[in-house]
Amino acid sequence: MLRALLLCLSERKTPQRFLTNLPAVRKLHERFVAGESIAEALAAVGHLRGDGFEFTLDHLGESVHDPATAAAATQAYLQILDRLKDACLRPNISIKLTSLGLAFDEALARRNLAALADRACQHQGFVRIDMEGSPYTESTLRVFRALDAPRDRVGVVIQAYLHRSEKDVQNLTAVGAWVRLTKGAYQEPASIAFPKKAQVDANYVKLMTMLLASSGYHAIATHDPRMIAATQEYAREKGIGPDRFEFQMLYGVRRRLQRELLKQGYRVRIYVPYGRQWYPYFMRRLAERPANVLFLLRNLARG
Ligand code: FDA
Repeated sequence: MLRALLLCLSERKTPQRFLTNLPAVRKLHERFVAGESIAEALAAVGHLRGDGFEFTLDHLGESVHDPATAAAATQAYLQILDRLKDACLRPNISIKLTSLGLAFDEALARRNLAALADRACQHQGFVRIDMEGSPYTESTLRVFRALDAPRDRVGVVIQAYLHRSEKDVQNLTAVGAWVRLTKGAYQEPASIAFPKKAQVDANYVKLMTMLLASSGYHAIATHDPRMIAATQEYAREKGIGPDRFEFQMLYGVRRRLQRELLKQGYRVRIYVPYGRQWYPYFMRRLAERPANVLFLLRNLARG
């Protein structure tokens, strides 16, 4: 119920205006978002690299409804790719296709993505296409498939909560695609998504084994120690070395676990979001963990 409410609020403009002005909300969002400017994001990346983590940068923004805003988002990402290269860092970005125009013009989103993929190729970088709510699953995969870019330059995300994902993983691994596996962060109906956590977890493990058994370099994105242990166990059993895949986690979530994995010799990539449009991202993080909401309510009560 609470998760559904928070995910519903994440898509509404009126609560956004009210909530983002509350000091307690602004304070908590700093835990999950690296800042509003590119300079703050690069500083966060510098710290992570210093500690031995890999990174992927998300310039926050989604559900864009006009070409000018989609062009601005594309420019912002081109700038990040250049800035990372200038800082002698291998560029790695995560993008939402609706920020590039997918919600109103698929061909435009495809062209904008192609511009980012070209620049990433020039800089030996990588573009990850995040997966959004189910209205965009098919079009996101279509845009990914249509892109003429090397497999080690552009990858996509699969959500274990969707029934269709097993088939999608089969299709993606058949063409050597590089996949980030997640549980899924949106509100989806039971007709297309597993409603129970245990079912999602079981599917996550199943998809993880399909990915690791394939030739691509995949990302196991989760903070769930049971998913991580299942991955480690499967990799050990099959003789899959830690250089053949990576773990990914979100900025500010389970930092101790992030460090432990690093110490154990795994590659760990941190997803670093930044920018002014942090509200929907922040609300999805609240929805993932009731304790985050309690923390927020306690701070609100204190005034
Ligand atoms: P689960 O939700 O079971 O959480 C396991 C444990 O992790 C919790 O018990 C808690 O301790 C901790 N935890 C999880 N979330 C937390 C939070 N917000 N705050 C504090 N603690 C938390 N989704 C999507 O639909 N499309 C996408 O493109 C992406 N991209 C993406 C990239 C990366 C790098 C990650 C790690 C995740 C995503 N996600 C995503 C989000 C993903 O779908 C999922 O919602 C979250 O990762 C939470 O699921 P877990 O696998 O962590 O398990």
